[in-house]
Amino acid sequence: MNEKNKFDYVLLGRVLAMAKPYRRVFAFTGVLAVVLAPLVILRPYLIKVMVDDYIFNYDIAGMTRVALIIVGVVALQVLLRYLFIYNAAWLGQTVIRDLRTQVFRHITRLRLTYFDTTPIGTSTTRTINDIETINSVFSEGVITIMADLITLFAVLGIMFYTSWQLTLVCLTVVPFLMIATYIFKEKVKVSYQKVRNEISKMNAFLQERITGMRIVQIFNSERREGEKFRTINRKYTQANLDAILYYAVFFPVVEIIMAAALGLMVWWGARGVISAEVTLGTLVAFPIYLSMFFRPIRLLADKFNTLQMGLVAAERVFNLLDRKTMIADVGERSAENIEGRVEFKAVSFAYTEVDYVLRDLSFQIQAGETLAIVGSTGSGKSTIINILSRFYEIQKGEILVDGINIRDYQLASLRQHIAVVLQDVFLFSGTVLDNITLRDTSISRERVIEAAKMIGAHAFIEKLPGGYDYEVKERGLTLSMGQRQLISFVRALVFDPKILILDEATSSIDPESEAVIQYAIERLIEKRTSIIVAHRLSTIRHAENIMVLDKGKVVEYGPHEQLLQLEQGHYRELYEMQFLSTEMS
Ligand SMILES: Nc1ncnc2c1ncn2[C@@H]1O[C@H](COP(=O)(O)OP(=O)(O)OP(=O)(O)O)[C@@H](O)[C@H]1O
Ligand SMILES: [Mg+2]
Repeated sequence: MNEKNKFDYVLLGRVLAMAKPYRRVFAFTGVLAVVLAPLVILRPYLIKVMVDDYIFNYDIAGMTRVALIIVGVVALQVLLRYLFIYNAAWLGQTVIRDLRTQVFRHITRLRLTYFDTTPIGTSTTRTINDIETINSVFSEGVITIMADLITLFAVLGIMFYTSWQLTLVCLTVVPFLMIATYIFKEKVKVSYQKVRNEISKMNAFLQERITGMRIVQIFNSERREGEKFRTINRKYTQANLDAILYYAVFFPVVEIIMAAALGLMVWWGARGVISAEVTLGTLVAFPIYLSMFFRPIRLLADKFNTLQMGLVAAERVFNLLDRKTMIADVGERSAENIEGRVEFKAVSFAYTEVDYVLRDLSFQIQAGETLAIVGSTGSGKSTIINILSRFYEIQKGEILVDGINIRDYQLASLRQHIAVVLQDVFLFSGTVLDNITLRDTSISRERVIEAAKMIGAHAFIEKLPGGYDYEVKERGLTLSMGQRQLISFVRALVFDPKILILDEATSSIDPESEAVIQYAIERLIEKRTSIIVAHRLSTIRHAENIMVLDKGKVVEYGPHEQLLQLEQGHYRELYEMQFLSTEMS
């Protein structure tokens, strides 16, 4: 936790700078704050005038006049306060709306490495909770604090003007007030940080359990998870109660201090009235001044905390925004007219600086050909796909498409002509159609249906309630694995890529679906360069070449028949152990 004792003005400046496009509203709100402060103190002053100058002079007409002015002042105050509250809130909401969009855009451009190491919960917290907290910097923070301070000084000014002796008497309690406020502020800050910690723990716990509910239920661990949740929940409640405790103590304490000030004032004031040093009107107006003086002080401590929490949140969001870990997109070439020749030249790659997953990897695929990659689990098959689509940057060597380094292509253009079907299919909530086009409006419904027919997915999609408009729920869990895979195939096909990369699902499926998937894959790889991480013999048989990978190195390369000839070859071993057995079962 970043616990700063010093107030960070640079950070505050950066937060306020976000309101730049709305500087007029900001200025207007500021002006309202400045105007409202003297208006607030005008009322008690007018009451004093009414008491001193008219009531005791039996001037009914004058009294009515002042009463009408008071009504006018109150009406004006109501109007201005409405404008102030609304504008301040509007400003905060608008700024955080912009910020949310900015953060989301930023996150979607970050390198995958970021997501490998950052929990999902953190990214969502940054875009939602933290930004929500920043809102308070505007709606309750800077401007209202400014308004409160102005009010405070205005009240103090009029108090001195009305009677400096009485004011000094009242101010004797201020040191006590300051001590109480300071203690309160510090305690609340700490306890709120605790609350935030506990809530993020609770979020993370909940998110993970809900995602992994199948595991929780199948292993009968509901009770254990329930116990754990109860513990977290208890801590969270306690943290909240601790925070509330400070309020419960602080507010009455301020109440007592204020009563003391009032008592002192009445005691001193009454003597003053008797000796005619203090007017009766002053004695009537002063209690109002006093409450006006104490109210902002009480709130200020609280608001200052809110402001500080907003800044802590802002710092976290800015840290994320300042993270410049994007994949460098400096290439200028368009991949529009590529043929689809792919070459790896001595490529070495590590996810984390030291552990090389691929070592000195070289191979070549001619345009239109199919390469099947096989190898044991963890040998680096999916990794090849990750680096070819530039999800990660390689450390050594070169990856060439049509003889040109992939870094020299525009990233978007390159990705447009390389379609990837990942090992585990991911579907978004939305219709089947949306999941295929990914909301790209240039792809017509007809095109989607055509592609689905070609692949052999049309029949099953049509049978879904609503057909292509069937609403996919949470990650597509209401569809079978095979169905999800077919949808992802159609997704790849509608983009008509020059290069197709397919990471076959590891899980085996029934023979009937197998045939459907097989047919789909054959259609998919027709007429284009294809790289398939293959787990099934039927797929491999269609490949011109097979690359056998072991611990990030190519150990065998060549056509099926040729590799089978190799005595004690890896491929032959794999073939006999894995593919033959699955074929027979
Ligand atoms: N995002 C990642 N960050 C760090 N290491 C990773 C990451 N993804 C994979 N690895 C590591 O890289 C190695 C190769 O993983 P890869 O996913 O390429 O295997 P694979 O050949 O596709 O295996 P499988 O057949 O099980 O899919 C593994 O040792 C794995 O631990
Ligand atoms: Mg894999």
